[in-house]
Amino acid sequence: MSQTIGIGIIGMGWMGETHSRAYRAIADRFHDGGVQPRLVICSDAVAARALAAQRRFGFEQATTDWRDVVAHPAVQAINITAPNGMHLELVRAAAAAGKHVLCEKPVGRGPDETLLAWQAARAAGVQTLVGYNYRWAPLVQYAHSLLAAGRLGRITRYHGRFLNGYAGDPLGLLSWRFDGAQGLGTLGDLMSHVIDMALWLAGPISALVADRETYVRQRPLPQPGVGTHYDRGRADDPHGAVTNEDHVLIMARFASGARGTLEACRVVNGAKCDMGFEIHGTDGALRWTMERMNELQLQWRTADPAQDGYTTLLSGPAHPDHRRFNPAWGLNLGYDDLKVIEAERFLSAIASGVPQTPGLAEAAAVARVQQAAIDSWHSGQWHDVAIDPQ
Ligand SMILES: NC(=O)c1ccc[n+]([C@@H]2O[C@H](COP(=O)([O-])OP(=O)(O)OC[C@H]3O[C@@H](n4cnc5c(N)ncnc54)[C@H](O)[C@@H]3O)[C@@H](O)[C@H]2O)c1
Repeated sequence: MSQTIGIGIIGMGWMGETHSRAYRAIADRFHDGGVQPRLVICSDAVAARALAAQRRFGFEQATTDWRDVVAHPAVQAINITAPNGMHLELVRAAAAAGKHVLCEKPVGRGPDETLLAWQAARAAGVQTLVGYNYRWAPLVQYAHSLLAAGRLGRITRYHGRFLNGYAGDPLGLLSWRFDGAQGLGTLGDLMSHVIDMALWLAGPISALVADRETYVRQRPLPQPGVGTHYDRGRADDPHGAVTNEDHVLIMARFASGARGTLEACRVVNGAKCDMGFEIHGTDGALRWTMERMNELQLQWRTADPAQDGYTTLLSGPAHPDHRRFNPAWGLNLGYDDLKVIEAERFLSAIASGVPQTPGLAEAAAVARVQQAAIDSWHSGQWHDVAIDPQ
């Protein structure tokens, strides 16, 4: 008998739609998983978005007041896909009501809010998951298993990055993402993925030095409730100031002794979604990027110089979760499939009572690294990363 979990979603923009679509795919991709979602209620401050999402995805109800989602008796789990400035209030409200939480990264405006969100969820004993979705790529899961088994030997160097051009156009609208009052810029938006991946694959970071820059300092103002992340204004539209960072660069020492660099930028030309890593160990190396999500480059130390270099694996049914989407080698998965895997992990954690990672505990670990980066870009010095007080 399959268990059913009642779902409420708050914020029906890009991610609210993506999470809804992911839940709808569970009945197909994870038909035998023993747990299925029931789309109970969706919420957006813009009524037309809430109603459109209700029609499109089949929610039983729609509302403009997120409190209706938290209070709904049939809702057991809440997806928080609203802007970062609302995350903490929403996690606190959901946790206080005993509802499980899948919160989008970066969980709040900055590291202090992420830590408070984690405390609220932990005190309430609810299950949590955070949208660090790049972890779920089959070949990233496989890379993690190789590292965990020590197949690369001792890790000496980790390079992580997220180079993205989403804000490269200076006429891209001044959305909430560029407003420092609503949260960090790239350190929250893109670098949170990079830090989470680094901690997962290479272990804790002990100290770092960081720098930041804002290259596009003015953008056209948006019309309230109209347009999204990717919309453009015109050169003669009224402009407003960008008040958070476009680019962050971190030089890091890992607790293992490995050295690394982490870089994220939202205004590059060229790269579009170059969220990736390159890891060098004493026995081999591997590298992956989301732009080629279905390829993993690997090298093992070899005595044969003719074999000495990266070779490429294609994603296939032998890699985690690939078979859920396709039984064949080399037939590609995409971004939305990662969100289906994420949704299934969240439902399974709730059904089993066994916490899943990456949850808010892992987001708190990311927050401690972000805080050291902020301290460093103010002081210009190396800073230790705080240790989890637990
Ligand atoms: N994991 C990923 O790959 C990924 C990708 C994009 C965004 N995100 C995260 O998802 C979150 C949302 O980003 P997005 O791109 O979907 O933003 P978006 O601007 O497209 O959507 C946000 C939605 O929230 C709604 N909203 C605002 N105030 C509200 C309120 N009081 N009640 C209900 N809804 C409200 C807005 O009207 C909008 O529809 C952010 O935290 C972002 O960092 C994650």
